[in-house]
Amino acid sequence: MNVLVVGGTGYLGRHLARSFLEDRHEVFILTRGAKEVAGTRLIRWDGKSIHGWGHRIEEMDLVIHLAGKSLGTWPWTRSRKQEFETSRVESGRVLMQAIQQARHRPRLFVQQSGINFYGLRGDAADESSGGPLGNGRQIFPWIHLEDWITAVRYLVANEKTQGAYNLIAPAATSNLEFNRELALALYRPFWLPTPAAILRILLGEMSLLILEGRAVNPKRLLDSGFQFHFRHVRDALINIFGN
Ligand SMILES: NC(=O)c1ccc[n+]([C@@H]2O[C@H](COP(=O)([O-])OP(=O)(O)OC[C@H]3O[C@@H](n4cnc5c(N)ncnc54)[C@H](OP(=O)(O)O)[C@@H]3O)[C@@H](O)[C@H]2O)c1
Repeated sequence: MNVLVVGGTGYLGRHLARSFLEDRHEVFILTRGAKEVAGTRLIRWDGKSIHGWGHRIEEMDLVIHLAGKSLGTWPWTRSRKQEFETSRVESGRVLMQAIQQARHRPRLFVQQSGINFYGLRGDAADESSGGPLGNGRQIFPWIHLEDWITAVRYLVANEKTQGAYNLIAPAATSNLEFNRELALALYRPFWLPTPAAILRILLGEMSLLILEGRAVNPKRLLDSGFQFHFRHVRDALINIFGN
């Protein structure tokens, strides 16, 4: 199958591309740059129009949209926040336009959004609780990269899947627990909390990414029968850093 990974030069895209290549699929990457990703073929675009590349969508069986300006870019100025949004919305709109105009359409279109889409659900502040960031009780959503790839491949392969799926580990983990487990896995000391006020001063609005929890669970994925390999943060961290 021909797979187009949009934003495939990024962290997730490169790993996903490799997974498809290992199974002998043809992988194309829609990119604004010229960064080679081994084994894939690059198609250039600007993320804003279908000019020059739109017809190539007819060659694709599957389109996976991962493009978007990194939220990790600091500081969050007004124009940068606008870019976070337009780099996702405009690119998605243009991809839809290319698909609608195609005589042969891809079988499936997958788009990933961050869970910030759900809005912020911070925990009640409790200064008595220790923790590295803020009060540490906020939910820290995570998924092991291997599970993320398996989940995407599972959803793509399963004819019945459509609509939104949360790709997130099933065992809710607080920021405090995550950092404690990380310290254990790395044989590092577990530091005292960084007060929320300091993070707000240092990071401004970007501190919301760290200080506000999001209680999200992967209900539809679990209901569909998907089996996570790494359900608990300790298993995931031991796998990554060894024991
Ligand atoms: N990594 C995570 O843990 C995580 C968690 C939750 C959600 N997500 C979301 O999943 C998606 C992929 O994540 P990632 O970690 O792989 O991101 P990434 O490493 O930042 O890669 C994203 C890719 O998007 C493209 N891009 C950046 N700015 C763009 C713009 N203005 N217009 C068009 N394309 C642009 C870039 O490709 P080119 O430079 O080649 O064009 C870049 O390689 C992102 O939307 C991210 O927010 C990621």
